[in-house]
Amino acid sequence: MNRYESTSAWRDVDDYFIEALVSEDEALVAARESGATTTMPNAEVAANHGALLGLLVQIAGAKRVLEFGTLAGYSTIWFARAVGDDGNVITLELEEQNAAIARENIARAEVQDRVEVRVGPAADSARELIDSGAPPFDLVFIDADKPSNPRYLEAALELTRSGAIIVIDNVVRDGAVVQPDTNDARVHGVREVVDDISRNPGLEATALQTVGLKGWDGLIIARRK
Ligand code: DHB
Ligand code: MG
Repeated sequence: MNRYESTSAWRDVDDYFIEALVSEDEALVAARESGATTTMPNAEVAANHGALLGLLVQIAGAKRVLEFGTLAGYSTIWFARAVGDDGNVITLELEEQNAAIARENIARAEVQDRVEVRVGPAADSARELIDSGAPPFDLVFIDADKPSNPRYLEAALELTRSGAIIVIDNVVRDGAVVQPDTNDARVHGVREVVDDISRNPGLEATALQTVGLKGWDGLIIARRK
């Protein structure tokens, strides 16, 4: 199957659980739909994964979230709602065009007071956060350009403390993660970050494969010891 392709059975099961368990209000639907107008159409997380991200925030009691890769702000809204009105989210986006769409969606969801969208290469924005002594984040979601995953993990480690959660999206890529002889820089970005995590005694982690509306992919969930 090609990337994003999804069997009808997987879609039906996602539809069933999303319908039964995940309430997407108008603001989330609008954010998801406007994803089609970004530079990376349909790359936002599925609704059930947005709900997972929100649950992780709430289970961990996270109040400060840093996101690498905003696009239309769909996952940003899940994070912003989950941190509550005394929390905040900083989300890093390369493209001004996407950031403008995200800001509209964030305002429609009425969470603009707790969200900051920073435009520019995410590694530069993260460096500015580090250099300015930003207070530590409780959860970091890495979901931007995949070749930079190792650099984003490195920045995440400078911006968090013990107990923080680091989630990395799109680590399976239709199974490409284990295909030998690939030239795909995105796959190399995944493997390198997996190596970095496995060699880091300060992190505990696992990876989950997922199927559904977004085809076959997966997430790494890591925690700083
Ligand atoms: C890609 C990136 C994403 O963040 C995503 O959720 C889906 C696909 C990509 O690089 O192809
Ligand atoms: Mg993603």
